[in-house]
Amino acid sequence: MSSNVTIRTMAGKDILSIFEAWNETLVRDTITVGRLISSIHLDINFSPTDARGCYVAETQGKIVGFIRAIMRLAPNDGLGFEEHDGWISVLFVRPEYQRKTIGTQLLHAALDFLKSHGRRTVWVCGNTGSAPGYIFPGVDGDAYPSGFAFFKKHGFTIDHEPIAMSGDIIDFDYKKCYDEAWSTGREEVVVEALTPERLQDFLAFLATHFKGDWNAAARAKLASGPLDEVLIALVKDTVVGYCQWEGEHFGPFGVRADIRGKKIGAKLFVEAVRRIKAADGRTVWFNWADEDAARFYERFGLHATRKFAIMKRSV
Ligand SMILES: CC(C)(COP(=O)(O)OP(=O)(O)OC[C@H]1O[C@@H](n2cnc3c(N)ncnc32)[C@H](O)[C@@H]1OP(=O)(O)O)[C@@H](O)C(=O)NCCC(=O)NCCS
Repeated sequence: MSSNVTIRTMAGKDILSIFEAWNETLVRDTITVGRLISSIHLDINFSPTDARGCYVAETQGKIVGFIRAIMRLAPNDGLGFEEHDGWISVLFVRPEYQRKTIGTQLLHAALDFLKSHGRRTVWVCGNTGSAPGYIFPGVDGDAYPSGFAFFKKHGFTIDHEPIAMSGDIIDFDYKKCYDEAWSTGREEVVVEALTPERLQDFLAFLATHFKGDWNAAARAKLASGPLDEVLIALVKDTVVGYCQWEGEHFGPFGVRADIRGKKIGAKLFVEAVRRIKAADGRTVWFNWADEDAARFYERFGLHATRKFAIMKRSV
């Protein structure tokens, strides 16, 4: 049935064929060559000398499928190499070649690779705070019922289901939201843009309270230019929360676990939306809110646009 399909490690020359097959298959997640390259070749966990963990399915000289399995080659902030975990950041088989066992062969290659490096748990695609090679949080079962059925069939179960959200902010009622956000605890909390003087405290706050890849996301943000798309919340001159954004793309966003539920997140969010709108934003969106956070955003008129199943399996 599939005897003429070869599964082999990705070579440099494959990238444009992977790009073309990706856009034909992952139609809700079409990509540019630039984004594709950043998610694979420029990822710190990509090994250019052997492209380990990246496999293509080839038949008659045509690339018809791709999988990327990841193990960490560089430590995740505060969490180290997470040496028992492996991740599958993407898998697809071109539509006309599906249901011929090609996906299964790609998955076996990826699982064998991860297992041979001592991984015990494999995630599709990431877990909160640890999503190397991030493209999407997990499987969007509405867009890709085949992917969801496929991973279930191969013994993966749902760990949790983050939600992507979006909201129109043209009519954002700043005054109403401000009054609500500041209706409690007003005297203690200060929300302000990050400044060079607060930078070290901010990074220390992240390193202590949000171990994992939000630290790298913050560093990338700060390295990319001015600090005016990062807000911090202070209580008694101590950083207790923050949010960052790029244009209309909001997040990450977090408040120290022991003082949640006191509207500090609301104060940050309302101020961020005010600034996004003033900078000509028309919407606010993000791809990954865990379920509790989704309820928070609904209060501000955002609605769910996608749901992702983060799946995992022991190997
Ligand atoms: C998931 C995917 C890679 C599987 O590849 P494949 O070559 O079709 O897989 P196989 O032939 O080895 O396995 C077939 C199994 O996949 C699932 N599957 C594949 N196509 C399906 C479809 N159209 N509808 C429902 N299930 C489907 C089923 O579980 C099927 O088993 P079954 O025939 O016993 O029902 C492929 O369907 C795909 O590219 N889907 C879109 C991309 C995607 O969802 N990727 C996951 C997100 S990272």
